[in-house]
This record gives sequence, structure tokens and C-alpha cells, in this order.
Amino acid sequence: MELYDNNPTINFDKEQVEENRQGDVFFKEQMLKKGAGSHKKFYIESYGCQMNFSDSEIVAAILSDMGYEPTRDMEQSDLILVNTCSIREKAEDTVRKRLRVFDKLKLQRPGMLVGVLGCMAERMKSALLEEEKLVDIVLGPDAYRDLPNLIATAEDGDKGINVFLSREETYSDINPVRLDNNGVSAFVTIMRGCDNMCSFCVVPFTRGRERSRDLYSILAECTELLGRGYKEVTLLGQNVDSYKWKNPENDSTVDFADLLEAVALLNPGLRVRFSTSHPKDISDKVLHTMAAHENICKYIHLPVQSGSSKVLKKMNRTYDREWYMHKMDRIREIMPDCAVSSDIICGFCTETEEDHQDTLSIMQFSDYSMSYMFFYSERPGTLAARKFEDDIPEEIKKRRLEEVIRLQNQLSYQHNLRDIGKTFKVLVEKVSKRSQEELAGRNSQNKMIVFPKGDTKIGDYVYVKVTDCTQATLKGELV
Ligand code: SAH
Ligand code: SF4
Ligand code: F3S
Repeated sequence: MELYDNNPTINFDKEQVEENRQGDVFFKEQMLKKGAGSHKKFYIESYGCQMNFSDSEIVAAILSDMGYEPTRDMEQSDLILVNTCSIREKAEDTVRKRLRVFDKLKLQRPGMLVGVLGCMAERMKSALLEEEKLVDIVLGPDAYRDLPNLIATAEDGDKGINVFLSREETYSDINPVRLDNNGVSAFVTIMRGCDNMCSFCVVPFTRGRERSRDLYSILAECTELLGRGYKEVTLLGQNVDSYKWKNPENDSTVDFADLLEAVALLNPGLRVRFSTSHPKDISDKVLHTMAAHENICKYIHLPVQSGSSKVLKKMNRTYDREWYMHKMDRIREIMPDCAVSSDIICGFCTETEEDHQDTLSIMQFSDYSMSYMFFYSERPGTLAARKFEDDIPEEIKKRRLEEVIRLQNQLSYQHNLRDIGKTFKVLVEKVSKRSQEELAGRNSQNKMIVFPKGDTKIGDYVYVKVTDCTQATLKGELV
């Protein structure tokens, strides 16, 4: 018998959901007292993963409670914030370039404050203040509640820094202010941090230890989004499958499959997505829960990183090639219509041509609908940087990456060709980039479909028959 058959369905307690909402109102009142009267403007830019974009919405909530208003025009702002990423050297270079632009702006607008948030703030700490004279505030991902204090410090002419990493912070009582949002689809953070220690990765150092958010506060946030007309939530975490929350009321433990089910049961019209899954943690129970609910999208981002068992071991991914392939087989057995995507690193330490061929062949085996592909970038402080030589020359890394990209392009195209003639339920998200007469939305498998708009509008569910495709997009017509 499958494990999930034994699992009791969670009965979530409506009163507790309400209590969490009231907690949120209380927090807002406290913040308003602190910043009453000011009508300043803030401008925020986010880089890196979805989690950073979601965190910026928490920061926006803290600022709006202080009386700050968001602006998209940085020249009008009193406070510029950049939420940064450290995952690869290039990501940090991008931020440095943006700081040069803010430098110029600061000369024109004396009194304007500049804050660096996120992973680069956490990685570099006070060195960032020393190297970047324009920066007034440095704030790590677990310290956003301290923003009002640091703004006050900076307004007094001092530099403010808080890079404390917490074992508890989940911002569960803060109701995010949705930025640049289509009103249809929203991110909901369910856990923070990562305990995995992949040898190439800086995230455990910038985001700290894993911790999961209170189930009831997640359900309250999703309920509130539903009330405001949202149709899709993406549950976010560095490693969502290791979500684990102990209910203090009855000592029961809620795992990721339980959480998925509880969110899916809120309303059949609410689509549920999630990201990212670590292959070692995605269980049959999660797969069966996905299969059992129509509104849990049939799409898994399951980063393989490499197809070579030798490289995977060096990466400390804790699975090998065969284990990953078996997981892919389980996904296909339980959900034949599920799309899987991946992340791939080319040219990790000691990677041979044979290892690289293993990566190409596992991509083929897995039939990824799409992948994010990178060449290895050594990150200071990681196990790989301390213990292994970054020994693959850049031109080889780049050539292997080109081969990986070329193969993925073919796989994506073939994947899309197989959808021609099929009809999908699509959640309409936006007007197509190419034409005002066309709308675009995703199917359950996370593929973007463009179609002539007819009478439909953003936020509707429609059925679309696929008639054509490119490597990136499906095209179709309403049925
Ligand atoms: N938690 C997610 C990954 C987050 S980082 C997971 O484990 O799947 C996103 C991706 O960036 C990783 O999957 C990896 O492919 C890539 N990445 C991380 N560190 C990198 C590095 N040092 N060089 C190149 N790519 C890297
Ligand atoms: Fe990084 Fe690995 Fe954690 Fe993903 S699971 S964030 S790659 S350490
Ligand atoms: Fe980047 Fe930090 Fe996300 S390093 S990928 S912003 S967790």
C-alpha cells in the first residue's frame, strides 16, 4: 500500500486562520505608528530566484506600513532598494553595474537612501559598505523587519547593517504587497533556507538553515488571495519537499504533501504550483497527492545538475544517475501527463567529456520540457571553492553549455510538437507580447499558450486546442 493511503487529511482550523489574519493587522498597526505621516516613495529592483521577488513583496509590505509608497520611477524615489543574488559571479556583476547607475542618481538627489538587500548583502556583509560608498543600508534575507530602524539610522547620517541569520524567521504574519502583479497568479513562501550543502552552492550561506512556515498562515494568505480574485499560487522554497511543520495544538506533523493537499482543497478554482523540488526529497506521497487533485499542476522542476554519478557525488547532491532516472520513471508511472524541467551545470570541477555526455543522455532520458542551464561559477566560501580546483577551462565550459542548450532547444521543440492537436485548460494571464488581439496563459504543464482572444479576459479559465508551436510557445484556438 502507498504511504499516502495511510495519511489522515488535514482538517485546518478556520479560527486559527482568522487569528493569523488578526496577527497581521496588529503588525500593520504597530508599523503605522512607527512611520506615521511620511509619504515617501521607494523603488525596488529584484534579481535572482522567485524567492527574492517574493521577499521584495514582504519588504514592500513593511515599507507601506511605514507610509512609503512604491514607485516604478527611480528618479522620483527617496529610497532605492536592490534585492540581490549571489548564485553566480555574473549575478553579482549585474548588481554592481546597477549600483553605478544609482551612484549618479544619488548625486542628483541628495538625501536619497540606497539599500542592498538579499543574498549579496548576506554574503558580503560589511565589506559591501566599505566597497560601495553610496550604500546606506545592508540587510540580509532574515533581517527585513529591521528595515524601519535601519532607515532611521541612515536618515541620521549613519550606515545601517543587519545580516543576522535566523533559525525561526518566516515572516508568516506579514501580508505581502503584490508588486508588478497580474492579479491572477501570486507567490506564497512556505519555507526558507536550505540545509543541503551542495558543494557548488552559496545559498546555505546566504539563506541560513531550513525552517517551515506555519500551515495556518499559509492557508490564510492563500484564502486572502482567493478573496481578491487570484486564481493561482506558487508555493515557494529552496527545497519545498522538505517542508515540515509541527502543529503545536495536537503535536501532528504536516509534511509537503499534506500542505499541498490542504491548499488544493481550499478551492477547486485555485491552481497550485510549487518550486523547487530536490530530487532526493520528492516522495511518492507528493506524486500521488499531485495526481489526486486536478488543480495541482502537473509540472515539476526537478534540477538534475549533472548526469554523471561521479560529478553528482562531488556536488554532494546525495543521489546518483540511476536514482534520478528511477525518480523520473516514478513520475511518469504516477502522472503520465506531467512535465518536468531541470537546472544543469556544465563544467563542474573534474567534469570529463564522458561526464558531459552523461548529462546530455540524462536530458534525453528525462525529456525535459525546459531547463535553466549554466556554466559552473566558483563561489567563495563553498565546499567546492575550498576543496576542489576549478579546473575546466572557460572555453570548454562554454562549449559544453552550448551543446546542452542546443539539445534542450531540440527537446523543448519536440515536447511542444507532441502537444499539437491536444486541448488544454489554460489560465489566462496576460495580453500576448506580439498582438493586442491575442491572449496568453499557461496550461497545467507550465507551457505558455497564445491564442486569439475571442470573448475571454485575463483571469478566465479557457480550453485551447493547440494548432502550432515554436520551441518556446504553443499556439492555439479557443474550443
Ligand atoms: N534550491 C534549488 C536551486 C537554487 S539555485 C535546487 O536545489 O534545485 C538555482 C540553480 O543555480 C541551481 O539549481 C544550479 O543549477 C545553479 N547554480 C547554483 N550554484 C551555481 C554555481 N556555483 N555555478 C553555476 N550554477 C549554479
Ligand atoms: Fe543550493 Fe543545493 Fe540548497 Fe539548491 S539544494 S539551494 S542547489 S544547496
Ligand atoms: Fe540567488 Fe539567493 Fe535566490 S543566491 S538564486 S537570490 S536564494
